[in-house]
Amino acid sequence: MIKIAPSILASNFLCLKDEIISVEKAGADLIHFDVMDGHFVDNITFGPMILAQAKNCVNIDFDVHLMVQNPSKFIPWYAKAGADIITFHLEASNNPMTEINLIKSFGLKVGISVKPQTDVNELLPYIDYIDLILIMSVNPGFGGQSFNTDTLNRISKVKEMIKNNNIFIEVDGGINKENAKLCIEKGADILVAGTTIFKSENYKKIIDELKGV
Ligand code: DX5
Ligand code: ZN
Repeated sequence: MIKIAPSILASNFLCLKDEIISVEKAGADLIHFDVMDGHFVDNITFGPMILAQAKNCVNIDFDVHLMVQNPSKFIPWYAKAGADIITFHLEASNNPMTEINLIKSFGLKVGISVKPQTDVNELLPYIDYIDLILIMSVNPGFGGQSFNTDTLNRISKVKEMIKNNNIFIEVDGGINKENAKLCIEKGADILVAGTTIFKSENYKKIIDELKGV
């Protein structure tokens, strides 16, 4: 069954506690927590202190997406604050095995993300060591962008590449009811959705629709 990870980037920050409790009650499987540093992307979001407090409000796992340069510096901060999955960008790392081993040293699940322009074959050396591949379907940095349709072929390529490895395929950016179905057909396991969920009137209805139930 597909998992839905609402991205709190599109939530009402002044009501963050209510927002994450609402999406948990509405059937969200994970909370997607976008970390931006103003260097890797042109935006700044949430520090580890926010994660530590948000973590106490719900029982579902936190899926931390690091859009930062020098991920090794940030990984311990978010691991200690309560992350369950930490995903870093392949493009931000000099030696991805360093980040993989660092995340594992905290007993957490490891993800690697790729921007739309990055060849997914660059992930190949790491597939024996990771739990998740996050395929960006927009340029990272901002919510509310349009889904890049090349993503569908990229999901198929990654699905073929990982074969029997037990790796989740997560897709992030511009997900809506229509393209969610196409991503699921190609083999996505987790869909991140910010705007589509948090700008909707009824979180349960839209999460069910994204899951195709
Ligand atoms: C973009 C973030 C996404 C973003 C998705 O850099 O990684 O998680 O919040 O938001 P929507 O669903 O609005 O594209
Ligand atoms: Zn994200």
